Amino acid sequence: MTTAELQEKIAEIGPWFYSFALPGGVSTPSKIPREVQAIFETRREMMESALRAHFGEKLTSVRAVDVGCHEGYYALAMRKLGVAEVLGIDYREENLRRARFVAEQQNVSALRFLQADVEELNPASLGTFELTLCFGLLYHLENPMRVLRRLHALTGEMLLLETQVVAEVEGVAEWGSREWTRPFQGVLAVIDESGEYAQGNQETGSTPVVTCPSPNALRFLLHAAGFREVTFLDPPAGAYEQLARRQRVIVRALR
Ligand SMILES: C[S@@+](CC[C@H](N)C(=O)[O-])C[C@H]1O[C@@H](n2cnc3c(N)ncnc32)[C@H](O)[C@@H]1O
Repeated sequence: MTTAELQEKIAEIGPWFYSFALPGGVSTPSKIPREVQAIFETRREMMESALRAHFGEKLTSVRAVDVGCHEGYYALAMRKLGVAEVLGIDYREENLRRARFVAEQQNVSALRFLQADVEELNPASLGTFELTLCFGLLYHLENPMRVLRRLHALTGEMLLLETQVVAEVEGVAEWGSREWTRPFQGVLAVIDESGEYAQGNQETGSTPVVTCPSPNALRFLLHAAGFREVTFLDPPAGAYEQLARRQRVIVRALR
């Protein structure tokens, strides 16, 4: 492809979420404001140090699945880090079209993409992966617990999950009588994404009603899904502001 043809193709299949470097000094223009794009780099840095720390030299035999992979930014990053094989899953074929294009242009092999709704996915049809990545998806879902169970079924060893979180709410609920109460295990905030959904935004979930967990709720739901060890990772120095303020977290969950 000539540079002009490449640029024409980039324009044809955009708009783009990430800025990817392609051959000939060409790059894809991210629709995300420049100051927010720093989020991608912080998450990549946190992902890479978590993978190195956990898998070490075994990384080159790890098979990974990236759920909600979008244009494949983290799937590509995992392959470049040395992960043996990556399967990227996304609900939107138009996002996967861009992912396939970048993988082809960057000549990255052992990277496959599959269109599927993770809320409906039958995990048994895919088998298990030593590593499951799920970034930026949980807070776009109507049924987070249903999806966490599916992520658990897909995960052979470790899940790295990134999500926004809401402020913790503590308290008790009456449970059958004013004398009988149960403590909250955190909260799921209900968020309306119907505006973005109706406009055809390519980052929303498959339905417009979504929930966002508090940190305690996230920990509780991950344990309930079957993960035995759940650790909130520390953001590095200079992290993107939301991760630095822990309004967005990356959690390592081990089976
Ligand atoms: C906010 S983007 C996050 C993309 C990427 N993982 C990241 O963190 O930069 C959410 C992605 O998840 C996909 N998605 C939303 N709901 C999904 C579902 N039910 N099943 C699979 N993918 C879904 C969207 O199409 C979109 O590509």
